[in-house]
Amino acid sequence: KVNVHADQPTVEISPHLYGLFFEDINDAADGGLYAELIQNRSFEYFSLKDTHPRTEFHPLYAWQIASSPKNHDGFVDATMQVHDESPLNSNNTHYVSVTADQPGTFGTQNLGLDGIRIDQSAKYDVSLYARVDDWQGAAPLTVRLLSPDGDVCGTLELPRPGSTWQKFDGVLTANETRDDARLQITTNGRGTLDLDMVSLFPQQTFNGRKNGLRKDLVEALRDLNPQFLRFPGGCITHGWGLDNRYRWKDSVGDVAQRKPNWNLWGYHQTYGLGYFEYFQLCEDLDMAPLPVVPIGVGCGFRCTEFVPMDELGPHVQDALDLIEFANGPADSTWGSVRAEMGHPEPFGLEFVCLGNEEHDTPDMRQRFPVFAEAIRKAYPEIKIIGTSGLGTGIPIYDLMTKEKVYSSDEHYYMSPRWFFDNVNRFDSFDRDKPLIFVGEYAAHDTDRKNTLYSALSEAAFLTGIERNADLVDMTCYAPLFGRKGHMQWRPDMIYFDDRNVVRTTNYYVQQLFSRHKGDVYLANSIDVVAKSPAPLFNGYVGIGTWNTTIELGEAAVNGRPLDLAHWKTTSGKFEHDNGHLAQTDMKATPALAISHESFSGEKIVFTARVKKTGGKEGFLLRFAS
Ligand code: AHR
Repeated sequence: KVNVHADQPTVEISPHLYGLFFEDINDAADGGLYAELIQNRSFEYFSLKDTHPRTEFHPLYAWQIASSPKNHDGFVDATMQVHDESPLNSNNTHYVSVTADQPGTFGTQNLGLDGIRIDQSAKYDVSLYARVDDWQGAAPLTVRLLSPDGDVCGTLELPRPGSTWQKFDGVLTANETRDDARLQITTNGRGTLDLDMVSLFPQQTFNGRKNGLRKDLVEALRDLNPQFLRFPGGCITHGWGLDNRYRWKDSVGDVAQRKPNWNLWGYHQTYGLGYFEYFQLCEDLDMAPLPVVPIGVGCGFRCTEFVPMDELGPHVQDALDLIEFANGPADSTWGSVRAEMGHPEPFGLEFVCLGNEEHDTPDMRQRFPVFAEAIRKAYPEIKIIGTSGLGTGIPIYDLMTKEKVYSSDEHYYMSPRWFFDNVNRFDSFDRDKPLIFVGEYAAHDTDRKNTLYSALSEAAFLTGIERNADLVDMTCYAPLFGRKGHMQWRPDMIYFDDRNVVRTTNYYVQQLFSRHKGDVYLANSIDVVAKSPAPLFNGYVGIGTWNTTIELGEAAVNGRPLDLAHWKTTSGKFEHDNGHLAQTDMKATPALAISHESFSGEKIVFTARVKKTGGKEGFLLRFAS
């Protein structure tokens, strides 16, 4: 029996529960939330062989010489090279030159990411920069959507480029639905056609925003009723080394002027989804923005670099300038950049997160206060969210307490069992210390799959968070997105490809809590009324081992002999029962296993006579409900 004492409110539920954590991991930004359909649109890709096995990237990645569409004659041979001699601007240093030595039709085409998804009658914004060199001919540019077989699925004519960089744009309508289209740009003449920043955007983005976000993915976020967005990482905030840190200033302004960065998760980031777009998304979904800024400390897992103390100034200034970009007047240095992007009003930034999952080192302890004090001095109204690192030891909570941060960010990637066992984790936390922000967490079940068990354990954990909602101010699951075929990390909350969005059971747990949040937590208790026999445990016993054989006999639970005929087994030797042992922590497939008999009892004593032969690698006995 569950007793809820409606007349006994205990704590107020934090208005900031529940939120989102977005990081560009698993192709969550380019190829995900960011609706751009062209891959490597500005020819800035390069091999990541020094840090990742991803050697395949190069400046022409996803580009080919244009092939002749069906029933189109007059295509001539051409060559294609990437150059940097006279670039579009100093941030966008590479462009493609396609050259034909004889008059005819020629050009280039982009394959998108796993092909380009197009929908019949949908409209697409095309834009590109072009110029011609050593040119004979007067032909305009032709932009086509093509199937792999050369069927034309949409055409747009653009004017003939001149000899200097010029931006061209127009709208292309698709006349077919397919997932494997490509975008082709051709001209007719003889000479060299230079192209850069080739872009194709569905007009149907969320809220119809230019340079916008994928509608279906943002709708999945909106349906979670999120109260805040922590972004842009995660590990990409501090990057692989200090050089690779997320530079928010490179992510704002005209997209053609943004300086791309490579992504520590093994691919490239265009920064097309940048700080302006993040703030805009927060405004669209009515979420508080929670930017995470690097604090001169490398990612604890990958680099131990630190910005020398006497060079920290520009890094601190970056953090201060970010606040000005978000909140400053439209005529301030960075507020004017925001205003030029179409948002003269401030974004109303309230929080800044300093660092991500920092390891507890003396260098970190030296640098954190410099950032915190500078922000407090320039913007006393900003709430600083500190970091307590990864795991459960909360090693630097003492520093966060000393620094009087608003809240401190803890991360847990633990087993479902841990989440069940930690339902009471916050009951005894000292209320005089900073609030807690659970900025990343997920239950990692066997093989890191999204399972009902993992989702239930997260739900159980969240009940403990609500009971302690005077202390635990914010929580967000991590990571948010995983693109099919492009994943570095599992489990994630939402999986997708170009056409489908899969909301996991873990997603629905978040949604359940977020949509049905109370104002106050009411005192409650549970009375267990025993019936005969007491149904305290209904479950199974699993036995497994590796590289061996087992014979089992005379098994009993609480002295009651088990009728082995009821077990999911075959013959006298018991074989692997996938259904149940999938829930164990075994890393290898067990050679033999038995499982399953429902039984009840307050206390479970399992006895069995086991004859093991040829075994060498351990033995596992597991109870589960
Ligand atoms: O969520 C994936 C990664 O886990 C984050 O980038 C990092 O903060 C954590 O270690």
